[in-house]
Amino acid sequence: MLNLAVIGGGGREHAIIRSLRKNPEIGTIYALPGNAGMKPEAEITGIPATDLDAIVDFCCEHHLDYVVVAPDDPLVLGCVDALEARGIPCFGPRKNAAILEGSKVFAKDFMKRHQIPTAACHVFTQVEDALAFVSDCPLPTVIKADGLALGKGVVIATTRQEAEDAVRASMERHAFGHSGDRIVIEEFLTGPEVSVLAFTDGKTIRPMVSSMDHKRAGDHDTGLNTGGMGTVAPNPYYTEDIARICMETIFLPTIRGMAEEGRPFQGCLYFGLMLTPDGPRVIEYNCRFGDPETQVVLPLLESDLFTIMRACTEGTLETTEIRFRDAHACCVILASSGYPVSYKKGFPLNIPDEVRPDTFVAGAAEKDGQLVTNGGRVLGVTAVAPTLEQAIEEAYRKTEKISFEGAFCRHDIGQRALRAWKE
Ligand code: AMP
Ligand code: GLY
Repeated sequence: MLNLAVIGGGGREHAIIRSLRKNPEIGTIYALPGNAGMKPEAEITGIPATDLDAIVDFCCEHHLDYVVVAPDDPLVLGCVDALEARGIPCFGPRKNAAILEGSKVFAKDFMKRHQIPTAACHVFTQVEDALAFVSDCPLPTVIKADGLALGKGVVIATTRQEAEDAVRASMERHAFGHSGDRIVIEEFLTGPEVSVLAFTDGKTIRPMVSSMDHKRAGDHDTGLNTGGMGTVAPNPYYTEDIARICMETIFLPTIRGMAEEGRPFQGCLYFGLMLTPDGPRVIEYNCRFGDPETQVVLPLLESDLFTIMRACTEGTLETTEIRFRDAHACCVILASSGYPVSYKKGFPLNIPDEVRPDTFVAGAAEKDGQLVTNGGRVLGVTAVAPTLEQAIEEAYRKTEKISFEGAFCRHDIGQRALRAWKE
């Protein structure tokens, strides 16, 4: 039996753990930190995902055979390098490749070097220069902190005042710590967004089924940006033609460019794409599985996840079979009232057995033997069905069976995709 660890503690990690569990070779899966809702599929350790020393110690002490590093922070900090140095094989990019997400300035310069289509941009290290630029640039304009900012580092400014405020918040008030010392100001693009996750071993790249995130908190894309309130897969805008263009102009040049620069990328590479009237553009790279994209993509994966992951690590992806089901998936996130601003935790959380296999728990803890809420996004419920209409209906029907005080969800997950399929 092989014993594994999955670093991270959210819905994405729960989805990864559940897919890994399908492989009969796998014994124990430890989650670092994990959350109480992942039991009994994983052993919950509580070890923080950013405490690299504790992670390495734990994995060595338990003689683990393989580690999946799922979140951005440990990847950007060099978790894979630290584990590999102790002889433990990992799924995930090393630090010098994770920089593709860790620094937007690196990502933009990289795309320029390799002629990968993206929004035109300027990089600023001095607040005066950035303010002078936004005083007469076209509006709206997009202002991004260089480093990781918990998904909050992007502002789309529609007025000069908003643009100035965003520059000052990042560079003067250090709203994102050192992540915002440098900023990227880029051209505002329009068009449908598509998330494409891809397996890669550094030489071969194999895209997974495409998906669509729903980032705003409220129905019909109103309200604040969140970590994601739901997803569907596949994404109707991602046609075979578009997929071919993306492979030639974006995916292959990215993998080749990283290898040429001595930064081979091994793991899951996430392409946040916008399909503009001038063609597909890269909005962002993430060096990991997306969340909640993973909660619709992995349930559609027919092939064995662990076999594919090992092929990424060992450089044998080219000869590894990757099949997805010809079906649709919809994931609805149940969040705590007040998310993404402020919310209460500690409410009893009931997940009936009949929906448990389709539920990915992101924010739960155990109190006196009872599962209680412990986060903003509490869980995701996924349904897979032959049509998107059925998948949506089923996901909402299952969601209704789960209860906790103050639970809310968006009611229109998948509706835009449904309209697009019908066009
Ligand atoms: P991110 O936090 O990088 O995922 O960006 C958040 C969202 O901002 C993206 O999903 C897009 O909807 C939007 N966005 C980012 N860059 C641009 C851009 N250049 N033009 C238009 N929208 C953008
Ligand atoms: N769903 C977007 C992300 O994982 O960053």
